Amino acid sequence: MPYSNLSPVETLDASYPLTTETDDTNAFEPIQPNSRLASLPLYVFASLEGLKQSVRESGLPLIDLGMGNPDQPTHPDILNALHHAILDPENHGYPSFKGKATLREAIAQWMHRRYHISLNPDSQILPLIGSKEGIANVILAYLEPGDVCLVPSLYYPTYQRSTVIAGGTPYFMPLTEENHFLPDLDAIPADVCKKAKLLLLNYPNNPTGAEATAEFYEKAIAFAKLHRLVLVTDMAYGEIAFDDYEPLSIMEFKGAQDVAVEFHSFSKTFHMAGWRLGFAVGSKSVIRNLYLGKTTIDYGVCNAIQDAGTYALNHAERLIKPMCAMYQERRDYLVDAFSDLGWDVQAPKSSFYLWMKIPPVFEESYEWIEYLMRQTGVVVTPGGAFGSDGDQYFRVSLVSPMDKLKRAVKALHQKGIRFDMEAPVVL
Ligand SMILES: Cc1ncc(COP(=O)(O)O)c(C=O)c1O
Repeated sequence: MPYSNLSPVETLDASYPLTTETDDTNAFEPIQPNSRLASLPLYVFASLEGLKQSVRESGLPLIDLGMGNPDQPTHPDILNALHHAILDPENHGYPSFKGKATLREAIAQWMHRRYHISLNPDSQILPLIGSKEGIANVILAYLEPGDVCLVPSLYYPTYQRSTVIAGGTPYFMPLTEENHFLPDLDAIPADVCKKAKLLLLNYPNNPTGAEATAEFYEKAIAFAKLHRLVLVTDMAYGEIAFDDYEPLSIMEFKGAQDVAVEFHSFSKTFHMAGWRLGFAVGSKSVIRNLYLGKTTIDYGVCNAIQDAGTYALNHAERLIKPMCAMYQERRDYLVDAFSDLGWDVQAPKSSFYLWMKIPPVFEESYEWIEYLMRQTGVVVTPGGAFGSDGDQYFRVSLVSPMDKLKRAVKALHQKGIRFDMEAPVVL
């Protein structure tokens, strides 16, 4: 059966059996989770594992350009800072719920250097175990069952999944090439606005690489105030930018600190994805409610990791520049390579993704990525994984060294993969 005909659940990794499955008839009938959790499909990257495994078993080596996991190790100076910090017994106990004062101070100073924003480190900054948990927790903190959460139609899966877990309903605001992947807030129906509690935005955008403009952010703040929405901005890719472009923080705009909370991450910025460190900044009341929710669920970030993160932020300018230069070289190489293969590629000014149309000979993105993977071993992410507005697109990530990118491009040439390719071989 072609992969694209399988539901995400059927492609489940065998090491995580479905709770409804039983090995023999005498086995204890598993107790079901709540209906909200049960209604969620498998997380997209987990669901792609089934297809990857099947291609691996066919003997074709995979060249994975799918995930957004930085390929470079964390900088040795940050490792050194961790090494010192972990030897300090003061760092071995439970962390403070508010995070270390030294880290909050470093965040305030960095936000000031980078975005010229003044924030109170005691009331407007909260360290997080990565930005993902913070985004999920702010959604859980604010949504009542029945509330609406305004989510872009191409979205990081946590936005929609946390909304469902909270008993809310996502309303998808269309992101299209025509609107430059910026939602038209005026097009949201009045009855939806009435029920909405949160507005989620993500720029630099995953998966499209799109940018927010100053006008858009000003409009979003006014819209959030008018409809009494918590405005959530996700800046996980805020520091990965090219050609001297500097992504905007919503906090730079008047009124943002009344309604908005912005999430930042060390994962991409400092190649610290596995360390689990991020932070939220913004409205005092939103930060307080996020903090209250988190005190129920977690104990914060290991103190030594907070110290290493403090070092990273205090040396951010020196550490970030070479990283952006590296991604820019990869971006330029892949933009040229896909252009040679007939694609009309927009070079993103920030983020580390290329977002491209699938060849017209394919109906939708899962069909295309399966074909590509089985023919060449090259793994890319189907646009449909980010929402139905992504069905005609796919995402290629820049988090692989040049030699791997070159191998991928060579494989595409060898198998005659082009944007304007003729009917594909039936698998
Ligand atoms: C748009 C977006 N937001 C948030 C995250 C989560 O990042 P973190 O590692 O800080 O939890 C990711 C991770 O890929 C992402 O793509």
